[in-house]
Amino acid sequence: MKSGEPSRTALAAARHRAAHQLLEHGSIFADPLAVRILGDEASNISQEAEHNPSGRRMRIFIAVRTRFAEDALAAAVERGVRQLVVLGAGLDAAGFDPAQQTFFTWLGVVPYLTEEAVWSTLGLIASLPNGAHVVFDYSDPPDSLPPEIAARYFLNRVASIPEKGGHILRAATI
Ligand SMILES: C[S@@+](CC[C@H](N)C(=O)[O-])C[C@H]1O[C@@H](n2cnc3c(N)ncnc32)[C@H](O)[C@@H]1O
Repeated sequence: MKSGEPSRTALAAARHRAAHQLLEHGSIFADPLAVRILGDEASNISQEAEHNPSGRRMRIFIAVRTRFAEDALAAAVERGVRQLVVLGAGLDAAGFDPAQQTFFTWLGVVPYLTEEAVWSTLGLIASLPNGAHVVFDYSDPPDSLPPEIAARYFLNRVASIPEKGGHILRAATI
């Protein structure tokens, strides 16, 4: 990842969110800025997604996890939470006051982290003095999967992602 630029994995997630607006009309997660934020032509985004039909499963998964987090955030705001922190933000920005009750979204990041980093982040969130909410997604660690599935879904991606200048994926995304 180059400093001052969003990571490739974050851009890929943002492209899936934008493609969901164009191909499924935002039926799971509506975001009027998802296409514009990329600074790319809508026609390029939908053509690219249509040429890669296997990306549909990941696109729908990303739309669902984003919708889940946004609904949980809306419920927290109704209960008085006024601070949001986006961990592993990608194209978003975040600020943080530890004294305020905080809602954390941590989407698409845990599979890239060591187990130690995951527990230490959860420990920090749990230790905040005024309480916190967190929404995150995670994947099965490779040694918990049947070997043929691990080989098919995990090992291929671990081998390919760092070569593309991305992050090391430590768990399977199936
Ligand atoms: C798939 S993107 C998800 C971006 C965004 N949260 C979303 O849902 O669109 C993965 C994110 O994890 C972050 N990331 C990857 N490895 C990381 C690490 N070891 N420590 C902290 N963040 C990491 C990347 O910078 C990137 O923003």
